[in-house]
Amino acid sequence: MEDWREARTLEELYELIKGCRSCPLAETRTNLVLGSGDDNAEIMFVGEAPGYHEDRQGLPFVGPAGQFLDQLLRSIGLKRSQVYIANTLKCRPPENRDPLPEELAACTPYLFKQIEIIRPRIICTLGNHATKTLLRTSAGISQLHGKLIRKGGLAYVPLFHPAAALHKPPLKAVLIEDFQRLGEHLEAERVRWRNEERPVEEVPAEEEGQPEQMGLF
Ligand code: URA
Repeated sequence: MEDWREARTLEELYELIKGCRSCPLAETRTNLVLGSGDDNAEIMFVGEAPGYHEDRQGLPFVGPAGQFLDQLLRSIGLKRSQVYIANTLKCRPPENRDPLPEELAACTPYLFKQIEIIRPRIICTLGNHATKTLLRTSAGISQLHGKLIRKGGLAYVPLFHPAAALHKPPLKAVLIEDFQRLGEHLEAERVRWRNEERPVEEVPAEEEGQPEQMGLF
């Protein structure tokens, strides 16, 4: 297989794009950081872009923001291995500057492919960049944080970026509270999915267990 669009697993996708040269960030990166976690995760987190530590290790959220994210996950009974974590950009922008529009244009098709493979129940966008990129909204994170937003067959919960929250104590308190709301959204989505997948009174016994088609976009 040559074309990354045909990848059916995240491993295949990584193998096909690890040498990507679609934008100039290829010149300065150490590693392309696709993401990490459970390929079948119920929740997917999308940050902005790899930083210094992520670029070196080839893994997302391994610095201080990642440690805080781990703590937030634990607060709702989740481990990093149970979720999937990715970024809008797969390569580190020099000096951790903001992603440029042309970099996002080159890189977000990979993110959409990851979402298609994982099919998460909830996508948490971390910070303004991921929120605006995925929800295509002009509304900022200050308006949207903690809410469950349905768009294109997917459910999103925008959250403040853990790195921003580490620098601003008031945001940290909001993010901690929003994680509790995220836990509640997840419970509600689980019930919703259970009911949608198994409408007990309608599905004849012999059809039980057949996978249901799900429109992603
Ligand atoms: N910040 C991000 O947005 N992503 C990372 O992977 C690390 C820090």
